[in-house]
Amino acid sequence: MSVKIRKMRSEDYAASMQILDKWNMAPVAPSATLQNPERSELDIEHSFVAERDGVIVGVSSYIVHSPELAETASLAVDPSCQGLGLGYQLQLARLREMQAKGIRKVHTETDREDTIAWYMRKFGYVRVGTNPKKHDFSLADVDEWTVLQLDLDTYQP
Ligand SMILES: CC(C)(COP(=O)(O)OP(=O)(O)OC[C@H]1O[C@@H](n2cnc3c(N)ncnc32)[C@H](O)[C@@H]1OP(=O)(O)O)[C@@H](O)C(=O)NCCC(=O)NCCS
Repeated sequence: MSVKIRKMRSEDYAASMQILDKWNMAPVAPSATLQNPERSELDIEHSFVAERDGVIVGVSSYIVHSPELAETASLAVDPSCQGLGLGYQLQLARLREMQAKGIRKVHTETDREDTIAWYMRKFGYVRVGTNPKKHDFSLADVDEWTVLQLDLDTYQP
C-alpha cells in the first residue's frame, strides 16, 4: 500500500466531494432555500488529500479568518480506510501549513463524540463551547457543534 498526503489539485475536487458526501459533509452552494450553508465550497488552495495507490481516500481543508485565526474544514476519510492514520496525517498537514503562515489559534467544530475525543487526545484541543447548526449537516440527529480550540503557539507535532 502506498499512501501520499499532498496538496489538493483541481482534478481531486470531485473525488474529495464524494468522500465528504458519504459523511453528509459536502459543501453546497448558497441557494434561495439555503442562503447560509455550513460549508459552501472547498478551497483548493487550503486543502490536502490522501492518495492511496492513486485513489483519493481522504481530504482536509481550512479557512483563514484573520492573520492569526483559522478554522478547520472538511476533514474526512473514506469509511473503507478509517483507522489507518490517514486522518491524523491530513490533520497534521493542515496544522503545519497554518503554523507556517503564522496562524496562532485554530477553531474546529465537530459533532461526533469519537472525533471530539480524537482531536483532544491526539492534538491537545480544548472544548470552548457549542454552536447551533444552521441545517442538517454531518450527523442528522445532533443539532449543535462542539467548538474546540488549539493553540498553535505551543502545539508541537
Ligand atoms: C475523524 C476521521 C477524519 C479520523 O480519520 P482516521 O484516518 O480514521 O483517523 P486515524 O486512523 O488517524 O485515527 C483514528 C483513531 O481511531 C481508531 N480507529 C480504529 N479503527 C477505527 C475505525 N474503523 N473507525 C474510526 N476509528 C478507528 C484508530 O486506532 C485511531 O486511534 P489511535 O491512533 O489512538 O489508535 C475519520 O474517522 C472520519 O472521516 N470521520 C468522519 C468525519 C468526521 O468526523 N470528520 C471530522 C470533522 S471535524
